[in-house]
Amino acid sequence: MSDMSDMRNDRDIAKPAILFLCLGNICRSPLAEGAARVAFADAGIVAMLDSAGTGDWHIGHPPDPRAQAEARRRGVDIGDLRGRQLAPEDFYRFDLILAADGENLREARALAPADATARVRLMLDLVPGRQGASVADPYYGDEGGFAATWDDVSAVAAALVAETASG
Ligand code: 4NP
Repeated sequence: MSDMSDMRNDRDIAKPAILFLCLGNICRSPLAEGAARVAFADAGIVAMLDSAGTGDWHIGHPPDPRAQAEARRRGVDIGDLRGRQLAPEDFYRFDLILAADGENLREARALAPADATARVRLMLDLVPGRQGASVADPYYGDEGGFAATWDDVSAVAAALVAETASG
C-alpha cells in the first residue's frame, strides 16, 4: 500500500509542471528554475520544473557565469542546466509558463497553439504587491543585478510553493 505522498509521486496526482521563461535562458529563467527546485524540494513537493528562452542564441549553453556565481552564493548549483528555446509542445507539457517580462509574455502568447493547455503569466504576478512587474534583465548590467534577480525569483518560488501546498 502507498501512503498519500507515494500515491502523489507514483501517479503524478496534482504534480505541478512549471516552465520558467526569459529571453536567453542563461540568466533569469535558470535562476528561477534553480530557486524553484530548492524551494519545492525543501517543501517535500515533487514538481516538474524547467526553463527556456524565447531566443535561440544560447541553446546548449550553461547559465551565464554571473548567474551561476549568484546561485552558488545562495547555496544552489545551476551549473548543470543548459539553454533551450521555447517550443510549441511546451504549451501542452506544462501547466504554467511563467515569463520574466512583458516581452517574453507577448512572445509566448504569440507562439502558443490555439488549443494550448498551459496558462501563461508573468513570474511576478504570483508575488503580492508585484503584479504586472518584470524581473529586470541583468545580462547587460553588473553583478548587483544578479543579486536582485535572485531576490525576485526566490520570491516567485516561495509563492509557487505556497500556492501548490495550499492546493
Ligand atoms: P536572460 O538574459 O533573458 O535573463 O537569459 C539575457 C541573456 C542573453 C541575452 C539577452 C538576455 N542575449 O542577448 O544574448
